[in-house]
Amino acid sequence: MALDFPHLDLSADEVLTTTRSVRKRLDLERPVPLEVITDALEVALQAPSGSNAQGWHWIVLTDPEPKKIVAEYYRKSYFAYAEAGAAARAAKPPKDLETAEKVASSATYLAEVMEQVPALVIGAIHVPGGELPEGNQAGLWGSLLPAAWSLALALRERGLGSAWTTLHLEYEREVAEALGIPETVRQGVLLPVAYTKGTDFKPAKRAPLETVLHVNGW
Ligand SMILES: Cc1cc2nc3c(=O)[nH]c(=O)nc-3n(C[C@H](O)[C@H](O)[C@H](O)COP(=O)(O)O)c2cc1C
Repeated sequence: MALDFPHLDLSADEVLTTTRSVRKRLDLERPVPLEVITDALEVALQAPSGSNAQGWHWIVLTDPEPKKIVAEYYRKSYFAYAEAGAAARAAKPPKDLETAEKVASSATYLAEVMEQVPALVIGAIHVPGGELPEGNQAGLWGSLLPAAWSLALALRERGLGSAWTTLHLEYEREVAEALGIPETVRQGVLLPVAYTKGTDFKPAKRAPLETVLHVNGW
């Protein structure tokens, strides 16, 4: 049964439109009780999964040693990625250069402090044989990622934040070996989790709906 932790009492639409990628506003000092995360995970487990298989697994890291291992692989991957991104921005500045640079600065900060974030949560899924399917993978990842996003939303409602990250997956096998994750369990997302500094997050600017909406065919 879910425990009763303080909630922000946001409407469903407020939670959905203000769950941002939080990096610089993660409170690295305030401890996060494991029970708050498991309480949010109870909500996440209500997400759909193909054939209701519920093949997901949640690896919650709170001890310094495993967090450091994951953070070091994350950083290695992040800085290679960031270097390529900076070169690409210099060669061909994106339309919204200011936003791109803000995201890069925020992401660099997260990479630098990753092991100081109170909890790192890896969402993973059981894959028979351990090999990802060659064809359509929507059925596989669609059985994990809705639950992982529900976790982010449930954390937001409880005053915590996270940022969806995937860069450590470059070293998925190494991380699996270090954490004892079986070969038949594949990782899909890493959520660094902390209370947020303030809870006033706003809807973000997005490309207008009409640029992506197709009614009755493309
Ligand atoms: C599939 C996916 C992978 C992502 N990987 C990373 C990552 O490795 N590191 C990171 O800092 N942010 C990562 N992000 C977060 C995006 O940068 C972020 O969602 C985007 O800039 C929009 O900002 P918002 O979430 O605050 O609206 C990822 C997001 C998604 C959906």
